[in-house]
Amino acid sequence: IDIKQLRGVTGGVTTIDPGFKNTGSCKSAITFLDGEKGILRYRGYAIEDLAEKASFLEVSYLLIFGELPTQVELDKFEQDIKNESLVDEDIHKILDAFPKNAHPMGVLSSLTSALTAFNPRSVEITSKEDMYHAITMLMGKFPVLVSWCMRKMKGEPLDYGDIDLGYEESFAKMMFKRPNQEYKCNKTIINALDKLLILHADHEQNCSTSTVRIVGSSHAGLFASISAGISALWGPLHGGANQAVIEMLEAIKNDGGDFEKYITKAKDKSDPFRLMGFGHRVYKNFDPRAKIIKVAAEEVLADLGIEDPVLDVARGLSEAALNDEYFKSRNLYPNVDFYSGIIYRALGIPVEMFTVLFAMGRLPGWIAQWKEMRENKEPIGRPRQLYVGEPLRAYSEIKDRK
Ligand code: ACO
Repeated sequence: IDIKQLRGVTGGVTTIDPGFKNTGSCKSAITFLDGEKGILRYRGYAIEDLAEKASFLEVSYLLIFGELPTQVELDKFEQDIKNESLVDEDIHKILDAFPKNAHPMGVLSSLTSALTAFNPRSVEITSKEDMYHAITMLMGKFPVLVSWCMRKMKGEPLDYGDIDLGYEESFAKMMFKRPNQEYKCNKTIINALDKLLILHADHEQNCSTSTVRIVGSSHAGLFASISAGISALWGPLHGGANQAVIEMLEAIKNDGGDFEKYITKAKDKSDPFRLMGFGHRVYKNFDPRAKIIKVAAEEVLADLGIEDPVLDVARGLSEAALNDEYFKSRNLYPNVDFYSGIIYRALGIPVEMFTVLFAMGRLPGWIAQWKEMRENKEPIGRPRQLYVGEPLRAYSEIKDRK
């Protein structure tokens, strides 16, 4: 049946599928995942290979344009992004207007949306060149905005990066350089950041990605669509889990560090408590991203010589749970959020910023999905509903209402 004819043929049947648990919203050639087998692939390439061998910009190019870049293509992509990395000083003024304790996800969403006002041409996408320009603009400016969100929170002066450094190195400088101190890139930190960004780069039609596609389907601009995606990611049911992990570990530490007590609590069905960072809705054997990031987390902790009682709790808790029959029999393993929070904490990143870092990684995935939706000329997203309200009622004058 021609899909356009379907409503006519079926007599206008509407399916109800809250949460879209069984409804595909689009055809996509970007990301494949098989939760039973623990498989995640971008454009057909295994996440394990990409995380080990590719850089974040290489993976971004792959997701957005469909193929791994040649060296010439990658160099051009990187240069074009660098050329777009200046952010208008007036956006800095908008940043200044936020209260210091504003949540950085709200700040990031607002500043990303504001980019449209300063780059109105980004909305007029009539050619491949227009699209490429909008994409490189966003890839260039986004790390700057992310770092500004953290600096604002910490009350630190902004850093403008370094055009001579690579994408991740310049981002690390904007994030971590202390005032009046020379900044030296730490290879282990850059490697861990690179892996974290790659592992978060896409995850097919999740809540924020679907948001980006549906907002973009009205032909709102790229920046406005991504800004909506950031708002969707902000929620604790989506991007906020890595923050919840660290908050749980801190609570266990402050309660004397007895993680066994919390494992028992998590197994107790009369107690709503769950081990944060364990289990996954889609990955029912293991989260392939967690395996990769666990190694990077160990490297970061060893390299920085970090001794942190919260991280000791994390180690003890994950080992004990992995050997516990309850968790084993239900295939509950640490997910990517369990380890990402540990790395961010080791790098001195405040918990409120964890979801912002997630957004930074997810950016190329959002862009790729938006581009695919535009190129496939998808119709405007407009779900149906089942009306369950009142039937027609006679209007009553206000004086007659009780
Ligand atoms: N701690 C203790 N028990 C758990 C946990 C946990 N973290 N996760 C699942 N279980 C138990 C459930 O109680 C259930 O037990 P039962 O069979 O005896 O009733 C069984 O394992 C299956 O769990 P479900 O709730 O059916 O699994 P579901 O797919 O619905 O939930 C979820 C997945 C939401 C991720 C869940 O594992 C959880 O709450 N984890 C903690 C929060 C978390 O880490 N979220 C981040 C996910 S990763 C991401 O979003 C990027």
